[in-house]
Amino acid sequence: MAAPQPWPPRLSLLSLLLTWAPSGAGARKVEVQAPPQVRGLLGDAVHLPCLLQPLEPGVQVTQLTWMRRDPGGAARNVAVFHPQRGPSFPEPGRWAFAAARTSTELRDGSLDLSALRATDEANYTCEFATFPQGSGSARTWLRVLAKPENKAEIQPVPLGPQSLGPVPVARCVSSGGRPPPQISWLSAPDWGVNESQVPGPLPGTVTVISLLMAKPSSKVDGRNVTCNVTHESLEEPRQLSLTLEVPYFPEVSISGYDDNWYLGQREAVLSCDVRSNPEPTSYNWSTTEGSLPAFAEAQDSQLLIHLEDKPINMTFICQATNALGSNTAKQSILVRAAPPKEWSQSGFPLWAIAPITVMTVSLLIVGGLCYKHPGKYCQCFRRSSANVNNTIYSAVNTT
Ligand SMILES: *[C@@H]1O[C@H](CO)[C@@H](O)[C@H](O)[C@H]1NC(C)=O
Ligand SMILES: *[C@@H]1O[C@H](CO)[C@@H](O)[C@H](O)[C@H]1NC(C)=O
Ligand SMILES: *[C@@H]1O[C@H](CO)[C@@H](O)[C@H](O)[C@H]1NC(C)=O
Ligand SMILES: *[C@@H]1O[C@H](CO)[C@@H](O)[C@H](O)[C@H]1NC(C)=O
Ligand SMILES: *[C@@H]1O[C@H](CO)[C@@H](O)[C@H](O)[C@H]1NC(C)=O
Ligand SMILES: *[C@@H]1O[C@H](CO)[C@@H](O)[C@H](O)[C@H]1NC(C)=O
Repeated sequence: MAAPQPWPPRLSLLSLLLTWAPSGAGARKVEVQAPPQVRGLLGDAVHLPCLLQPLEPGVQVTQLTWMRRDPGGAARNVAVFHPQRGPSFPEPGRWAFAAARTSTELRDGSLDLSALRATDEANYTCEFATFPQGSGSARTWLRVLAKPENKAEIQPVPLGPQSLGPVPVARCVSSGGRPPPQISWLSAPDWGVNESQVPGPLPGTVTVISLLMAKPSSKVDGRNVTCNVTHESLEEPRQLSLTLEVPYFPEVSISGYDDNWYLGQREAVLSCDVRSNPEPTSYNWSTTEGSLPAFAEAQDSQLLIHLEDKPINMTFICQATNALGSNTAKQSILVRAAPPKEWSQSGFPLWAIAPITVMTVSLLIVGGLCYKHPGKYCQCFRRSSANVNNTIYSAVNTT
């Protein structure tokens, strides 16, 4: 049986590091500096910095090489500089060394790339080869961004039965972004969003289309919403505001009745309150029993009720119609024979509430203290303490 292996295997790792560490007192690594990431805009020029740190006396740069490394692929050269022979580019045209010149000390290996394409996005390694110290390198991730164009517009909702379900009410398009832009909607909580992506106008770019979905109603019509586009190439999110406009079925309610109608009162009026887009074209008043009785007179959105000599107990219906269709509301009406008595007319007298409350609270406090410390606080009540406790009990019981 093998002895259990220690984990982590510290010793072997340490000896590995030791064998790789520079040996000999004077030997230093060739140090190269480049930013880990450089971003450029599609079509623009980009500068890829790369600097060699000072070398020991007597060490010479023999060659500078820029390599492109693609995941899963072999590295390939994109630019080479030789101290005597100068620059060479396997695919000339868009590449240039920013500072390297022949017959001078080669320290600045920075590279310029013009007319940036999406396919230029990759990791590039800048490598200085020296003699006799060997080579040193640094890696930069070149990212190619494209600024999206943004627009937002309301979506016309056709008149018809589809206005009942969730429909697209606004559309926000962010086109030609790289990487894909992000769209969110503000002031539209819980509404649905249907988002899709299609290729943008330039290769490597993406167009994001976001449809804001809502069920047409008075809550949606006239509401301001904002499309919020975020993208790496934009310093701040772009916000595009819209005022929604949707057709919706009439939303009907009846006002005017206060449950305090009686015979002999002057004329009473019910109002049919309607919100709709487009505006209502007609109002139709009726009752649950059928058409209107003689004492009720429809005047468009209002119903005049002549309070005659008979009590009335009836439910009125208002039906409002617009270009989409109709909706109704009901209101039950009770016309009593006589005006209510004065006391009940003004309801329970408000002035009575304060003293009653004060009395109840003090009873509760006194009672509570007596119950807990009968001897200490309730000397004078002692004889009647049973009664007080009873009172408290019933007061608590009724609350
Ligand atoms: C470049 O390298 C980084 C770090 O290893 C990696 O996350 C990134 O995906 C690479 N980029 C490309 C385009 O290969
Ligand atoms: C989203 O929109 C696309 C295109 O307009 C449509 O085909 C799809 O059915 C929609 N999806 C939903 C869930 O509404
Ligand atoms: C919507 O925005 C417009 C213009 O910005 C403004 O005039 C209007 O009052 C706003 N409406 C609401 C409901 O906030
Ligand atoms: C806009 O969207 C971004 C990213 O999703 C978010 O961080 C930001 O808070 C949003 N803006 C507002 C005003 O909510
Ligand atoms: C009004 O409503 C009643 C009851 O629903 C109906 O019989 C009548 O035809 C309607 N009138 C109009 C003008 O629509
Ligand atoms: C009014 O009529 C309804 C149904 O016909 C009935 O249930 C209700 O008791 C009546 N109310 C009065 C106060 O007569």
